[in-house]
Amino acid sequence: MSSSTQTVPEVADVPRHIAIIMDGNGRWAKRRFLPRVAGHRRGVEAVRRTVQACAERGVGALTLFAFSSENWRRPPEEVSLLMQLFVSALQHEVERLHRNGVRFRVIGDLSRFDPLLTSLIDDAQRLTAGNHGLVLTVAANYGGRWDIMQAVNRLRHAAAGRNEPWTEDDLLRHLSLGDLPEPDLFIRTGGEQRISNFLLWQLAYTELYFTDTLWPDFDPAALDEAITSYRRRERRFGRTSEQLSAVSPVRGASG
Ligand code: IPE
Ligand code: IPE
Ligand code: MG
Repeated sequence: MSSSTQTVPEVADVPRHIAIIMDGNGRWAKRRFLPRVAGHRRGVEAVRRTVQACAERGVGALTLFAFSSENWRRPPEEVSLLMQLFVSALQHEVERLHRNGVRFRVIGDLSRFDPLLTSLIDDAQRLTAGNHGLVLTVAANYGGRWDIMQAVNRLRHAAAGRNEPWTEDDLLRHLSLGDLPEPDLFIRTGGEQRISNFLLWQLAYTELYFTDTLWPDFDPAALDEAITSYRRRERRFGRTSEQLSAVSPVRGASG
């Protein structure tokens, strides 16, 4: 995949790749005087809805931030409940994903996870590897800085003693999402306006969309609002507006 800083990517009406920080589960629960885990449980339902809605709209790839490398700082009971939820989601959802042609993958440092969880992840990835529908990537124990560092270390390993400078493309090949187009649209629910160490490299030219909707309330209508906002953006990739209208009178095409 080429990078948005090297060549101007194609711009389509439907984002080819959407990346989401699913935030606000805890506040959703708190407002209802429920334990935080109730919000996480409802969050799984929002994931199911969003996966289906993206597939129906022809989105090629969906990347969901489920657990950050910093989320280990949470109370141990919440971390352990999140892990249990992840296990049960894999046990209950993977068959349906497979039936719908979804290619499921997990990115992040899996070495800290329980063997049951990693084996369920392996099984799900293997089962769905040949599918040609939506590419669904879940980021778990993921951090954008971790991703760049693991890519650098793999590069170093791959060609010890090399003298020529590395290129962006060399690095890209080793990044977790190196085989996907960069996200066209980034969505963060829950009202915070920050990246929280999600895809640092890949978001260089992504359109950012923030909504106060809490993740458990996110639904196809909320997704459509985000896509509508995305469609109104002029994606210039460094060029001027005038250059874009010369290429395409309707929207900025590649060039
Ligand atoms: C996002 O919701 C889910 C995870 C980070 C696992 P939060 O749990 O961060 O919800 P808030 O931000 O406390 O409302
Ligand atoms: C980001 O949410 C990580 C996930 C949604 C998995 P957080 O709720 O952990 O982010 P901060 O700590 O508020 O930045
Ligand atoms: Mg949060």
